[in-house]
Amino acid sequence: MRLQGKKALITGGNSGIGLATAKLFIDEGAEVAITGRNQQTLDEAVAFLGHKAHGFRLEITDSGARKQVFQQISGKLGKLDIVFANAGVPGNTPAGSTSEDLFRQVIDTNLTSVFFTVEDSLPYVQDGASIVLNGSVIGTLGQPGYAAYAATKAGVRALARSLAADLSPRGIRVNVVAPGATKTPIWSRNASRSEEQVSGLEAQLSRIIPLGRMGEAEEIAKAVLFLASDDSSYIQGVELFVDGGLTGTPFGGAASRG
Ligand SMILES: NC(=O)c1ccc[n+]([C@@H]2O[C@H](COP(=O)([O-])OP(=O)(O)OC[C@H]3O[C@@H](n4cnc5c(N)ncnc54)[C@H](OP(=O)(O)O)[C@@H]3O)[C@@H](O)[C@H]2O)c1
Repeated sequence: MRLQGKKALITGGNSGIGLATAKLFIDEGAEVAITGRNQQTLDEAVAFLGHKAHGFRLEITDSGARKQVFQQISGKLGKLDIVFANAGVPGNTPAGSTSEDLFRQVIDTNLTSVFFTVEDSLPYVQDGASIVLNGSVIGTLGQPGYAAYAATKAGVRALARSLAADLSPRGIRVNVVAPGATKTPIWSRNASRSEEQVSGLEAQLSRIIPLGRMGEAEEIAKAVLFLASDDSSYIQGVELFVDGGLTGTPFGGAASRG
């Protein structure tokens, strides 16, 4: 049990990577507070995770609500050993047809709120804690239609490095997990994308990814567990890619082998 007795906060813990991570953390002995917007999936997640999970409804961009909920979480769990700032949205912001409102919304959710998730949880975080931010391969690879998302995820890497410098005196580690294409509900959140289009996209991506498939949320969770636990006790300010090789060897997939 690598997280025996540890207390963790996971934003966006009612879906996808956050939910898989909450499950793994609990299996490893932690007590976990998860946040999300959707009350129904939040309730379902807590029912699935069992008595060591606590659900809190939270719109992560709402500063007042964030401060209040984090205080409630600390009241319930005590001091936190782990914070996984995971909540995020994809956002489609192609050049030529993107509104400022949408651009700002993506930045607000994926970048500003990630910084303030750390900032507002700090009063409740133990010295020696581990903070993990959820990045993305898109913060490194150019992809059409994702300028705002890419900027947020590159920003998350930069945040982690500065935060690691700020928080090292307290022994707090700050690292980034950077998933590649991973099978979660994020792919079908775009209402204009049909089920066939989602599976077509998966087939297309699988030809580009060196390991020939998309990742599972549980595979990302294992990397988060590593960064959250003492197994990574001397790792500070890194970005750990969990992407089937896409960033390391972008021409390693079947599509490039002919
Ligand atoms: N799946 C991938 O291929 C992939 C690849 C690279 C990086 N990532 C990153 O992984 C993280 C998790 O994504 P996922 O794939 O697990 O997607 P997901 O299943 O869609 O989960 C996203 C989570 O974020 C929460 N969230 C989004 N906007 C929020 C807001 N404004 N306020 C509060 N909560 C909010 C959602 O809560 P509700 O459901 O309640 O709205 C949900 O719990 C994201 O940061 C994403 O960028 C994913």
